[in-house]
Amino acid sequence: MSFIGEKRVLSGMRPTGQLHLGHLHGVLKNWINLQHEFECFFFVADWHALTTHYEDPGIISQSAMDIVVDWLAAGVNPGEATIFVQSRVPEHAELHLLLSMLTPISWLERVPTYKDQQDKLKEKDLSTYGFLGYPLLQAADILIYRAGNVPVGEDQVAHIELAREVARRFNYIYGRETGFEEKAEAAARKMGKKNAKLYFDLRKTYQETGEPDALQKGRAFLEGMQNLSLGDRERLLGYLEGGGKVILPEPQALLTPESKMPGLDGEKMSKSYDNVISLRESPESVTQKLRTMPTDPARVRRNDPGDPNKCPVWKFHRVYSDQDVQSWVQEGCRNAGIGCLECKQPVIDAVLKEQAPIRERAQEFLNDPETVRGIIDDGCEMARGIARETLDEVREVMGLRHR
Ligand code: TRP
Ligand code: SF4
Repeated sequence: MSFIGEKRVLSGMRPTGQLHLGHLHGVLKNWINLQHEFECFFFVADWHALTTHYEDPGIISQSAMDIVVDWLAAGVNPGEATIFVQSRVPEHAELHLLLSMLTPISWLERVPTYKDQQDKLKEKDLSTYGFLGYPLLQAADILIYRAGNVPVGEDQVAHIELAREVARRFNYIYGRETGFEEKAEAAARKMGKKNAKLYFDLRKTYQETGEPDALQKGRAFLEGMQNLSLGDRERLLGYLEGGGKVILPEPQALLTPESKMPGLDGEKMSKSYDNVISLRESPESVTQKLRTMPTDPARVRRNDPGDPNKCPVWKFHRVYSDQDVQSWVQEGCRNAGIGCLECKQPVIDAVLKEQAPIRERAQEFLNDPETVRGIIDDGCEMARGIARETLDEVREVMGLRHR
C-alpha cells in the first residue's frame, strides 16, 4: 500500500568484500536500469555488515570504498541515483530504536534468515542483539525514505514483509490523531471545490466497491496535488483507504531477476563457494582462472566426445556467446571437433571485453578518490535531508517533541 514516494527505489549492499561478475549480472545491471526510471537511493549497508562481521572491521572499511568504486565503474550514475553510506545517516539508527519499541521480539525470531544464517555461519557467534535486529534495521533503512520499491533477491523478501508489518503497526498506533476525520475533510477542502469533490467521489467509490482501481486513481490524484503539506497528504491518503494517517507507507519488494551468471565450478557464483571472478580482476588472472576451470569430466583426452550440459564452460557460453558460437560449441564438443581450451577462448575474450571498460573506469576513480568522496558526501547530505523530515514526524507522533 505504498504511496508517497511510490516511485522511490531504495536498496543497500553489505560491504563484506569485493564485488564479482555475479553481482554485475544480477544486482548491478538491475540497479542501472532502475536509475533511469525511478528516483533511486543506493547505499552501503555498513551497519548491516557489522552484525555479522563485528570482529572484522577491517574488511568493512576497505570494502565500503571498494564497492562504491565498483558501482560507479559498472555504471551507477551519481547524476541519476543518490549514493550514500548508512552509518553517515545516523537517523536510520534512531528510527531503528524507535521502531524497536513497538516491534514484538517474536516477529524478529520468526524471520527465516535469523535461524538460517545462524546455522550457516556456525563459526560466528550470532546470538547477538544486533543480529536479531538486522531486519528491523533494514525496515528503518527503507521506511525512513518512504521508499515504495525495494529491489532485493529472493532471500530478502521476508525482510521486506517485516518492514510492511512494522509500518502497518506504526500507522495503526500513531496514525489515529484526535479529530482525524475533521482534519482529513478540512485538508480535502484546501484543494479547492472541484478537487475536493473529485477526491470525495473516488473515496466513495473505493469505500463502497473496494475497487483497487479507484484506490489507485485516488493515490495518483493525490500525488498530482503539489501544494499539500505532508501531514495533509498522509491524512487524505489514510482517509481514502479508510484508516488513520499513513505516516510510514508500506514498501514493496521488487524481485531482482535471477542472474544466470555461473561460478567457475558451474554453481552459482558466490564468494562462499570460492568460484568467483571479481569485477576488476586482472586480465591475467581471469585468463588463468578460465583456462583451468573444470570441463565435462568425460573429455579426458582431446578425442573423447563431451556433453556441454555437463560442463560449466557451457553455462558461460549461455551468458556470453551468440547463437553461432553456441552451435559451434555444441557440435565441436559432441563430436570432439574442438578442444576444451579452444572452446574456452571465446568466453575468455568476452569476459575480458566486458571487464575492460569497467576496470578502466574503476582505475580513474581509484586515481581520484576525492571525486568518489565528493559523490558520497553529496549523497549522504541528500539522504539525510529526507531522513530528517521523516524522523521529525515520527518523533512528534511518538511524543518526543519536547526538544
Ligand atoms: N540485507 C540486505 C542484503 O543482505 C542489504 C540491505 C540492508 C538492504 N538494508 C537494506 C537492502 C534496505 C534493501 C533495502 O542484501
Ligand atoms: Fe566443455 Fe567446451 Fe570442453 Fe565441451 S568442449 S567439455 S563444452 S569446454
